[in-house]
Amino acid sequence: MCGIVGYIGKKPANKILVDGLKRLEYRGYDSAGIVTLDENGEVKINKVKGKVAQLDDEIAEQADKNSIGIGHTRWATHGEPSVANAHPHKAGEIFLVHNGIIENYKELKAELADHKFVSDTDTEVLAALINSFYDEKTSLFDAVRLALKKVVGTFGIAVVSTREPNEIITARLGSPLIIGLGDNENILASDASALFGLTDKAIYLNDGEMAKITREDVKIYDLNGSEIVGKIEKIDTNLAAIQKNGYAHFLLKEIMEQPETLNATLRGRIDAMKKTVKLGGLNLSEKDLKNVQHVVIVGCGTAYYAGLLASYYLAELLPDVTIEVVVASEFRYKKSFLPKNSVALIVSQSGETADTLACLREIKSRGAKTIGVVNAVGSTIAREVDGGIYVHAGPEISVASTKAFTSQVSAMIMLGVSMAQTRETAEDFVEKIVAELAILPDEIKKLLNKYVAEIEKIATKYAKYEHAIYMGRDTAFPTALEGALKLKEISYIDANGYAAGELKHGPLALVDDRFFEVVMLLEGNLLDKTISNLSEVNARGGHVFAITNSDKEITAESILRVKTDLKILTPILLNVAQQVFAYYIAVARENDVDQPRNLAKSVTVE
Ligand code: AGP
Repeated sequence: MCGIVGYIGKKPANKILVDGLKRLEYRGYDSAGIVTLDENGEVKINKVKGKVAQLDDEIAEQADKNSIGIGHTRWATHGEPSVANAHPHKAGEIFLVHNGIIENYKELKAELADHKFVSDTDTEVLAALINSFYDEKTSLFDAVRLALKKVVGTFGIAVVSTREPNEIITARLGSPLIIGLGDNENILASDASALFGLTDKAIYLNDGEMAKITREDVKIYDLNGSEIVGKIEKIDTNLAAIQKNGYAHFLLKEIMEQPETLNATLRGRIDAMKKTVKLGGLNLSEKDLKNVQHVVIVGCGTAYYAGLLASYYLAELLPDVTIEVVVASEFRYKKSFLPKNSVALIVSQSGETADTLACLREIKSRGAKTIGVVNAVGSTIAREVDGGIYVHAGPEISVASTKAFTSQVSAMIMLGVSMAQTRETAEDFVEKIVAELAILPDEIKKLLNKYVAEIEKIATKYAKYEHAIYMGRDTAFPTALEGALKLKEISYIDANGYAAGELKHGPLALVDDRFFEVVMLLEGNLLDKTISNLSEVNARGGHVFAITNSDKEITAESILRVKTDLKILTPILLNVAQQVFAYYIAVARENDVDQPRNLAKSVTVE
């Protein structure tokens, strides 16, 4: 997704902007640009189709001391990646960067005939619209405010002008913005990672708010121009958290740090001795928790699969509650019934996914309680839910989600245990699953210490394939879906996950030498059935990689036998093996592991 950085202070803005954009690269982009002004309105603009590093090279040759500026990494929505379409966009004396989508840009463009358009973007239309209000009697702030009243869509914007070169105007509706507060300098960004090392105090802009940022202060307003008191919050400034710490890729770092990040998810919430869970921040009374009759779990991509896996455990913990798991982009348009006493779990690593956020708002409008299962602290979803469980997995930089999945599933299990405790259901299962949660970080640590080299060796055998089938039964089914997503998004192999029992109903027709198959076999009452599904594939010349915690005799081209004390939570553990497998295949295929083509870390557009 696009990234925005703004700076106003006493230092040269260009280097601060470019360094900030580098910290937003993980959001995914295809072009970038900055504009800086000096206090007399002198302008310097750099735009590239490609990486932020190219901007760095350009500014290194410029003696640009300008101390105010805005910058942008663009993930193309309207208009192909190009220098012309890269932001900032200019109209008259103003320069604009924008994250979001102006849905009525065509109608607005038709009213702006006197602007000479040089790009195909909706953003340039917004720049021209602001400029159309910007006359000698109208300040930049008011011109922006008047223009935004005509906009339908989402925006996070930053605007500067050569006429008023000592302020940055910013506004948000649907695309997050945070304002870092410095000493005689202030920094604007799409998320806190761009502020690391610069300040630990910030104001999160809320939807429908604007701000006027000068060197001396930051004033917050609503879109009618009435001033609002902005809430100053402390932000996590752990720079190491967003560095690779010596790993080749953020993805490997985030896979390998799961024992620590899962511990952070569990810390202070589970009592392994008493086999109980205590969650703060739900903002639901015991009575509310007792009265829940329906749980709907909402998410996209990996967050959806985390919800799907968690739903199996919630069904065990809450036998008298109906559990539904929905893809956010479908739920918001599909006719559906939300029974009374429904609670919605809104699952999102970034807390900014447009489809998930829209679902949250839709569900709230229908009167259901909403609980966020979110990683990014202070994100829009985290601030709009009724209550929540931060998963505390730390910044997840790589586009492919790994540690967040493990923490999200575990957080939802803890919520299920908390609800089961108040309803006194499934006492025996509660005891078992809490005991397993308590050892899960160590079990993951053991897997990562013991099996990574073996998995890497197996991965190189399958890196040459272009097609893959993942399969599993029961809790291994959603895990197969997640494993297939991980592989497809970083290796670009056409990988799809199926319920193992479904193979014979169609997908088995695919099996030939173009495909390999990953089969997850869990110890337990479905093991033999899954072994027969595996035999159906073998009988058709399949190339099977079996991942299992069982010692049972298995025939497969490759086998990873993981020793573990887990029984119930084995899929979460074996999914870590799938993550490692996908990582090494992507590395073998020399892909951009952390920023796969066409994808973004946080999809803040529909
Ligand atoms: C997962 O690896 C993908 N990057 C993607 O499916 C992601 O899970 C999805 O876009 C949801 O993101 P969120 O958790 O930030 O809402």
